[in-house]
Amino acid sequence: MTARTSRCSSMVIALTGFMGCGKSSVGRELSTLLGIPLIDLDQYIEKKAGRSIPDIFAHDGETAFRNLESEALKELLSGVFPLEKVLRTPPKQAWVPPSYVAEGGTFFEGEYPAQNNLILSLGGGTILRPENAALIKERCKCFFLRATEEALRLHLGGEQSQRPLLKSGGFEALLRERTPLYTAAADFIIDVDSLSPMQVAGIIANLIS
Ligand code: S3P
Repeated sequence: MTARTSRCSSMVIALTGFMGCGKSSVGRELSTLLGIPLIDLDQYIEKKAGRSIPDIFAHDGETAFRNLESEALKELLSGVFPLEKVLRTPPKQAWVPPSYVAEGGTFFEGEYPAQNNLILSLGGGTILRPENAALIKERCKCFFLRATEEALRLHLGGEQSQRPLLKSGGFEALLRERTPLYTAAADFIIDVDSLSPMQVAGIIANLIS
C-alpha cells in the first residue's frame, strides 16, 4: 500500500487500550496509510531514559515510570521533543516528511505537533493519571482499541512474562479497572478482536476523514 497524505490537518491521533490490543501494530499501519509519523510513547520513554521499561520498573518502581510517562506525554503534546531520535519509520513506510526530522540530537522546537499530524501510540497505563487523560482529551483524537481478555492473552502469549505489571498476575483485575478509563478517554471505540491491524487502521482513517 502506498502512503498518502492525510486529508486532516493539525491532528494528533492517540491509540489507547490494554497491553496486547495492538496499539503499536495499528500505529505502524496507520502511519503507512496516512503518511504521517508515528511515535510510540514506550519507545520514546526508553530512548529518553536510555533504559528499558522492565529495567525502570525493576529498579525505580512503577511511580518513577509513571512520572517519566507523564513527562514524556507532556513533551510530545507540547511540541518540544527530540523528534529525530524517536521517529519511527516502519519498513513499509515510503514517505517521511523531511521537515519533521530534527538535526542529530537537537531538540525540535516549533509548531510541531500543534500544526502537524502525529500518531501517538500510548502505553496501556498512560490514561491512569487524570492529568494525562485530560491532556489526551484536550489535544488528541483518541481511539480505544478494545479487545476481550481472551484475545489479549492470546496476543500477548509469551510476552506476558516481560510485562512488569503482568508478571505477578492480576490481568483480569487490571483490565476491569482500566476499561472505564480507556472508554472515558476515547473519542471512538473499536472492537478489534476479529480485525487485522490493517483493517483497524482503515477504520480509523475513515473515521477521521
Ligand atoms: C503498561 C503498559 C506498557 C508499558 C508499561 C506499563 C501498563 O505499554 O507502558 O509496561 O501499565 O499497562 P504497552 O501497553 O504498549 O504494552
